[in-house]
Amino acid sequence: MRDIWGNVDEYFISSLHQQDRVLEHVLQANHEAGLPAIDVSPTQGKFLYLLAKLKGAKRILEIGTLGGYSSIWMGRALPEDGKLVTLEYSQKHAEVARGNIKKAGLETKIEIMVGPALESLPMLKDKGYSSFDFIFIDADKSNNPHYLKWALAYSEPGTVIIGDNVVRNGRVADQKSEDVSVQGSRALIDLLAKENRMEATALQTVGSKGYDGFVMGIVK
Ligand SMILES: C[S@@+](CC[C@H](N)C(=O)[O-])C[C@H]1O[C@@H](n2cnc3c(N)ncnc32)[C@H](O)[C@@H]1O
Repeated sequence: MRDIWGNVDEYFISSLHQQDRVLEHVLQANHEAGLPAIDVSPTQGKFLYLLAKLKGAKRILEIGTLGGYSSIWMGRALPEDGKLVTLEYSQKHAEVARGNIKKAGLETKIEIMVGPALESLPMLKDKGYSSFDFIFIDADKSNNPHYLKWALAYSEPGTVIIGDNVVRNGRVADQKSEDVSVQGSRALIDLLAKENRMEATALQTVGSKGYDGFVMGIVK
């Protein structure tokens, strides 16, 4: 099946995406620096870009930068005075991302904060960020419930919150799973189920990156 999903992704990308030398360079730079290829796929990146545009997002928060591939997609959706803050634990990933973001010409719009996201999140207020209108959670999945709580703390009515990789090859449906990432995804879904400040759903996806999915919601 994975071949078919990959072929279909290739067809969509060659039909609907312009050739993009910057993003090709980003993936190459990530590969050369030895970063794992766990960035969103091109169609998922463009999906995030379109959602941020639909929202008219001016303030975006991302948790989990890697080499900045998804940051660049979402950063491109920002207006002139827009800002994206992205949180990354690894100094090395952040350095590669910094180079990529500069190459994309987005260094004035995208700020990287290095360190454990749970330490960076409380500091955003001191940096002048009181709320965000679009939040993408894509870091260590075991901390997803904490990230949702922080995302809500930095939300206002209408804020869009998206979490990546919640399907995990279907393992999310296994309530006995011992995989901490599956448990983190399930804890996130369980929190959302009880959260009356949000309307949410989850979508399964297949493609060049396999079988996974997003959870997404809007703050009431
Ligand atoms: C799936 S990758 C992010 C992919 C990126 N959003 C993209 O699509 O291009 C997850 C990233 O989260 C980072 N990470 C893991 N634990 C973290 C933590 N506690 N705080 C901040 N970042 C963390 C990892 O180092 C990795 O770079």
